[in-house]
Amino acid sequence: ALNEILLLVGAYLLGSVPTGLLLARSMGINIRECGSGNIGATNVYRTAGKKLGIMTLVGDCFKGLIPVLVAHALGLSPLWVAAIGLAAFLGHVYTVFLCFKGGKGVATALGVLLGTAPLAVLLGIIVFALVLYKWRYVSLASITAAACIPAFAWATCVPRETIIMAGMIAVIVILKHHENIARLRAGTENKFKA
Ligand code: G3P
Repeated sequence: ALNEILLLVGAYLLGSVPTGLLLARSMGINIRECGSGNIGATNVYRTAGKKLGIMTLVGDCFKGLIPVLVAHALGLSPLWVAAIGLAAFLGHVYTVFLCFKGGKGVATALGVLLGTAPLAVLLGIIVFALVLYKWRYVSLASITAAACIPAFAWATCVPRETIIMAGMIAVIVILKHHENIARLRAGTENKFKA
């Protein structure tokens, strides 16, 4: 299982690369001291502009998508594919490069799930878009989509291992949004401005 373990470690390290922090730094912005302080696409968009925000979204998404595509190409079992996807996600959220204090994992989860449960994630994107359109909070849209995707994965008949991975991702995404949840409850959460 040497290939599998190398890929697992590689996925974690790739996931750990803080795309948003590096892109913001290229503009002289310390992302962890601006806006929500998060290293994700939403905060880069908010503080460094649209272009870098979208680049962060795409970059963080590929960190999740590439490892699972490689795992598929090598013909690995659903258990290994799920473990490798989870490793990339955990890399972003608990990055080794920032003392394990990473992002909230939404974009990287998107990439992992595009490669493992594409139909479920498309339904999740619809939920995300509807919630964002109605309430204008990216955090609320992320939490709602994360909570729905395991059920969508189950409904679209992906392997059981993928459903369990999606469930673990959902729990972590929601826990990582605890500050957003507190702000939503207090009515002080940032609204998304296009
Ligand atoms: O992807 C993270 C998003 O749901 C919230 O980001 O910066 O508003 O905490 P932020």
